[in-house]
Amino acid sequence: MLVGFMGVGKSTVGSTLAPRLGLPFVDLDDLIVQREGRSVADIIRQEGEAAFRRLEAEALDTVLSGPPVVLACGGGAPCQRGTMNRLKQFGHVVHLFAPIELLQGRVGGAQSRPLWDESVEALHASRQAHYERAHHQVDVSGTAEQVVEQIWRWLDA
Ligand code: S3P
Repeated sequence: MLVGFMGVGKSTVGSTLAPRLGLPFVDLDDLIVQREGRSVADIIRQEGEAAFRRLEAEALDTVLSGPPVVLACGGGAPCQRGTMNRLKQFGHVVHLFAPIELLQGRVGGAQSRPLWDESVEALHASRQAHYERAHHQVDVSGTAEQVVEQIWRWLDA
């Protein structure tokens, strides 16, 4: 299970790691989009964040009641009440982290991420305590391949 703030590369890392582990890759946001037939940004803009969190919780229930997968969680998922405990019971939880300045350069605009606004630095800071409960922390300042390699070595250890 990969957790971390918006823009850390959870989907890229997860989709590279999954075939190496012989597991399917699931992106929680993509699952919600498939079910709803519209983008996460549209769901949040049209119905608000609380409605999106309900859909996110339902999608997570589906994944956590199924077979093992490599899961990329949306940035806010592990910060919802009780979710980090559930993720940790399901499997290895890895936190991908980077300073907000690096992510600001990577994400650029808020077009596809409605929660990326002028308070993003405060949001990033407020979420760290949740993310740091993961089993393992990986700095994503390097390339996606280096990040995958690091997780791979940790899982093998
Ligand atoms: C969110 C992160 C997004 C997406 C939604 C809310 C958040 O996923 O789930 O826009 O609250 O941090 P990514 O972390 O994949 O960008």
